[in-house]
Amino acid sequence: MTTGELSPAHEAQTLPESLRETLAGRYYTDRDIFRAEQDEIFHKNWFCSVLAADLERPGRFETVQIGRESVIVTRGRDGKVNAFLNVCRHRGARLCTEESGEVRRSFQCPYHAWTYGLDGKLVAAPNLTAMPDIDKVSYGLHRVHVREWLGYVWLCLADRPPSFDETVIGDVTTRLGSPDAIVEYGVENLRLGRRISYDVKANWKQIVENFMECYHCATIHPELTEVLPEFADGLAAQYFVGHGAEFGEQVQGFTVDGSAGLAPIPGVTADQDRRYYAITVRPQVFINLVPDHVVFHRMFPLSPERTLVLCDWLYLPEVVDSGADIDKSVELFHRVNQQDFDACERCQLAMDSRSYDRGGVLVPSEHHIGEFHDWVRERVG
Ligand code: FES
Ligand code: FE
Repeated sequence: MTTGELSPAHEAQTLPESLRETLAGRYYTDRDIFRAEQDEIFHKNWFCSVLAADLERPGRFETVQIGRESVIVTRGRDGKVNAFLNVCRHRGARLCTEESGEVRRSFQCPYHAWTYGLDGKLVAAPNLTAMPDIDKVSYGLHRVHVREWLGYVWLCLADRPPSFDETVIGDVTTRLGSPDAIVEYGVENLRLGRRISYDVKANWKQIVENFMECYHCATIHPELTEVLPEFADGLAAQYFVGHGAEFGEQVQGFTVDGSAGLAPIPGVTADQDRRYYAITVRPQVFINLVPDHVVFHRMFPLSPERTLVLCDWLYLPEVVDSGADIDKSVELFHRVNQQDFDACERCQLAMDSRSYDRGGVLVPSEHHIGEFHDWVRERVG
């Protein structure tokens, strides 16, 4: 082969019909683009933060990173979940540095001891009585919008949040064909069986794109394609509206070796039985539904090249309480996660290469990822 037959790295190529272009490599490494994504995507959309059941009682709190903001999510005395920017109103010290914990009745700033109630109101400060003109509400913590859905606390940093129905529930509807198709699983009544966190050295969009396609399934997911044989054809469940991938004939359950799963979720309909559904809720949630459990991923983009993924395996409370062995069921998606995140890290390595200056290409079974790229471009340019 002469070098004349190879295309130089920077040269534009006309795309054949079957290919679409991806985002250019800099979208996965550039600090300015990442900052624009924080401003225009993570600070403006609903963001899934914590499992509500992890805030078991008033005073329990978790801190989460949303874009450039640290947020305290906590349960108030009235049982409702509140969220506040984790910034003291005096001189800005970070109030809580722990990832989670419990306070008795207030959050006290470790710097000059301004103290805030579980409702965010300023309740005490040294010499506060000498400053009677300070309004305790207007000098309370800055509130973040809160919505509970599927047992999770969703937050929005925007002053005027977008419609939850049109964005979050809209994404579920687009994928499942109906907003009710997820209701049968009663996700909010399920209980945490296992949580695994993955520190992935890849841009968050690599992870979203990977979740959206199954062109890679035959190559990297031997266990998953055994359980869901149609995935070996390369078309992800997300390729079709309302489609659930069917379990193989010999497969008894969604487990690493196809052995029987746990007690089925009662609301799951006959149509949904023995099927796997996957849903991406932009920008950072990936939900998997199978008859006996739900696998719920939350992504926390930490830098252009690093994303924390928390993955929860949720079962019926009686399954968790009985101490049933969930290992085989957890192991299947844990392996899938490891296989996927390895692939994402492998791609991330090339994002700064001049070979990827103009990006790569999407084959027809990946063309729907182009819509996600358009969604990103519309927001960050
Ligand atoms: Fe918090 Fe001063 S910065 S009390
Ligand atoms: Fe995968």
